[in-house]
Amino acid sequence: MRRLLALPWLCLALLATAAPACSSGDSPVTPTDSEPADTGAETEEDTLPVCDAVVSKGPWVQTVDGTTAKVRWESCRAGGGGITFQPEAGGAAVKLASNVRSAKVTTWNDVPLIRSADYPGTFFMHEVPVTALAEGTCYTYSIDAEPTAAGRFCTAKKAGTAFTFASIGDTNLAVSDVSKVLTEAFTKGKPDLTLHGGDIQYYSSGVETYGKWFEKAAPFLRSGAFLPAIGNHEFEKPLEREEYIDRFWNNPGFDGDGDRYRVSWGGVWFFALNTEQPIDATSAQGKWLAEKLADAKAKPGFRFSVVWMHRPLVSCGDGGHNDAARKTLQPIFTANDVKLVVQAHMHGYERFEMDGITWITSGGGGGLLGDVDKEVKKGLPECAFRKASGKWFNATLYAVPAGAGKLIGTTIGTTGDVRDTFEIAVP
Ligand SMILES: [Fe+2]
Repeated sequence: MRRLLALPWLCLALLATAAPACSSGDSPVTPTDSEPADTGAETEEDTLPVCDAVVSKGPWVQTVDGTTAKVRWESCRAGGGGITFQPEAGGAAVKLASNVRSAKVTTWNDVPLIRSADYPGTFFMHEVPVTALAEGTCYTYSIDAEPTAAGRFCTAKKAGTAFTFASIGDTNLAVSDVSKVLTEAFTKGKPDLTLHGGDIQYYSSGVETYGKWFEKAAPFLRSGAFLPAIGNHEFEKPLEREEYIDRFWNNPGFDGDGDRYRVSWGGVWFFALNTEQPIDATSAQGKWLAEKLADAKAKPGFRFSVVWMHRPLVSCGDGGHNDAARKTLQPIFTANDVKLVVQAHMHGYERFEMDGITWITSGGGGGLLGDVDKEVKKGLPECAFRKASGKWFNATLYAVPAGAGKLIGTTIGTTGDVRDTFEIAVP
């Protein structure tokens, strides 16, 4: 018989501090298959609270193009699952079964301040490859076994068609209340794509697990395709990259991997980079970027490209900047019609207009706000090109109207108000 030695005192302690733990969403997992015979001896596994959630994390959508998408979620239960989806504008509902993969998590990632953790155990990752979709069409979906676990996504638009996307980064969602930012930018804005600039979750804050994070991230996970870049906080715990990051987000786009990849939408090409690896023009990643940017520019219907990453190439805040890499990449950006670069890591907001490119620092997703003006005080020359900045939580919505002309940015601030607006001339 399985005993739960840790759960009673843990829950009592959390009740005393009114901390919302012991819920199914962040509960640890006890394997439900292949249980060994009970020998009466206590094992570490015996001490784990039981997760029985049908949907323990998610759902979310990634790897989307004009006709296909992947819907993913995590379950604590073995067995099959599926979704029902239909066009958002109305139409016949379709059911699809998920592919289920069991994943053994070996790490026990404690978060002492909330006396909770992401626990080891066996998890069941569901993925529904949705195919034969209509181009440029939005769909709603729900998980059949738990219909409240529902979301939406849109397929890629035809070249030249209007669409919206959003950026956010450094989403330490359990630390700071960014609910108004998330509501305005994602729940109301419903961007087709969310570019996440990395530092997705922060064990280091002492109050956040992936279980907690997934509960609060629903606005951007369920509004459209979720496209994360890799940040430095994706490596806080042993095997975090393998057992969490790759398990949740692996291959979120095309023509690359979990570190670098691209997607295309309405004639605009988006490129994710991993700034924990070298990115200058001579690096493997830089060469990949140059090759794929040129390839995209040669595609029928190409308009312009967007590059996003974690650590800034240019910033006047306290997160550092990489002038050397920027100077090697800038000619490649210019030659291949990169009009927008989205960065994160610096907890605040910045917008530069420099070298014919708009550079956004979109790092206000909840991590404790930093010194946005550190390099201004030191006289960094690039700061002369900074047109807007702020020490506030934020996300940015981008509208790409049909046809040539402009890209319109609207940055949502702490109270859900508009903090910055800008227009970028684009083909
Ligand atoms: Fe970072």
